[in-house]
Amino acid sequence: MSHEGSPASIRHTAATHTKLAFVMVGLPARGKTFIARKVARYLSWLGHRTQVFNVGAYRRAHLGSRQPHSFFDSRNEEGNRARLEMAERALSDMLAWLGQGGEVAIYDATNSTRERRAFIADACAKTGIEVVFIESICDNPDLIAANIRATKAHSPDYAQVEAEEAVADFEQRIAHYAEVYEEVDRQDGRYIKIIDVGETVVAHRIDGYLPSRLVFYLLSFHLVPRPIWLTRHGESQFNVEGRIGGDSSLTSAGLTYAQALAKFVREQASSPVVWTSTLQRTIETAKTVNLPYDPWKALDEIDAGICDGLTYAEIASQMPQEYAARRGQKFRYRYPRGESYADVIDRLEPVIFEIERERRPLLIVAHQAVLRALYAYLMDQKPEACPTLPIPLHTVIELTPTAYGCEERRFALLGPDDSTNATESSA
Ligand code: F6P
Repeated sequence: MSHEGSPASIRHTAATHTKLAFVMVGLPARGKTFIARKVARYLSWLGHRTQVFNVGAYRRAHLGSRQPHSFFDSRNEEGNRARLEMAERALSDMLAWLGQGGEVAIYDATNSTRERRAFIADACAKTGIEVVFIESICDNPDLIAANIRATKAHSPDYAQVEAEEAVADFEQRIAHYAEVYEEVDRQDGRYIKIIDVGETVVAHRIDGYLPSRLVFYLLSFHLVPRPIWLTRHGESQFNVEGRIGGDSSLTSAGLTYAQALAKFVREQASSPVVWTSTLQRTIETAKTVNLPYDPWKALDEIDAGICDGLTYAEIASQMPQEYAARRGQKFRYRYPRGESYADVIDRLEPVIFEIERERRPLLIVAHQAVLRALYAYLMDQKPEACPTLPIPLHTVIELTPTAYGCEERRFALLGPDDSTNATESSA
């Protein structure tokens, strides 16, 4: 009776058959790698086999990491040859990977001239791969300077180089690229332009499911640092009985946690936006926090279908086949008339967009399976790892997005004696 996704595609629902290459374009320090990794994280989480091919990594691996800025000067013939060779190596690996089952590749390099872009587009066209250029344009000196400080000065290109010297060299490298840079336009083909980190997004000839989703995703980008707090509701009556699903109320220990959560939130520098599911246990928790909250149906716990309200032991004795099937394939297993983890990820996509868009601190009071899926996205975990990610009760998981991922801290708000002293641990 249970239904599993097709093994031919790991996409959770509708499979895409077209192979796609998103080709980054932009001067150095315009956030290309940030965007490339973020897009890869999003598409992988949705179940697409996605990989980033970073030409800088090829250069460091094959030529060593310490090239002076003059290496990037277009008048440097030797530098040009070496850089083209690295671009070709990355391209041929990318084409091979797409030919062997990869679905979406992201080719991360400056690709700053039309000639270079045409070369990449032709190579992809020969093997039936669709190309969409993603150009990142930013002329805001503060943003560029912040990006150089946050990433480049700590890059392997400048290991053991004083920060000031690294920044000065990098600025000269940018100037070399700027001399020959040609903005993407209609002659290049299909493109998405991201101007000033998503303030303006331009899409040219973008059609098809994935590229269109991506435009929408890119529209929600910003770089404002803020914490995202994930927490399960306080302990519920069903938690005590070991029953899954349902819509039971908090126990007195659950209420104590809600009060500790309220204290935790009061102690923060600014009040968060609060989201809950539509189930009582999350709403009762949020009410105690005493801030306005938005209930989202999409945040409801995984639907256990015909198993809702049972204990795991009851499922094992009453439906041993279902029990065994879930143990064997927990990610893809769909409860009869209910959901799988893959289904949960699919319904959380709009939540991800809103998380990305929100600039204020955010408190999400939800459930074990749903928070596993959100955590997997934020922490770049394979979706298949979701079903076993630890999301304990009575713990706030603080995730703060940084340049290339999230920093994590965990706060267990109830001690063994149920005191409300927070203890912190890093994961
Ligand atoms: O037990 C609490 C709970 O939130 C259930 O309602 C839900 O079915 C379960 O956790 C999800 O966890 P798992 O996928 O490990 O069964």
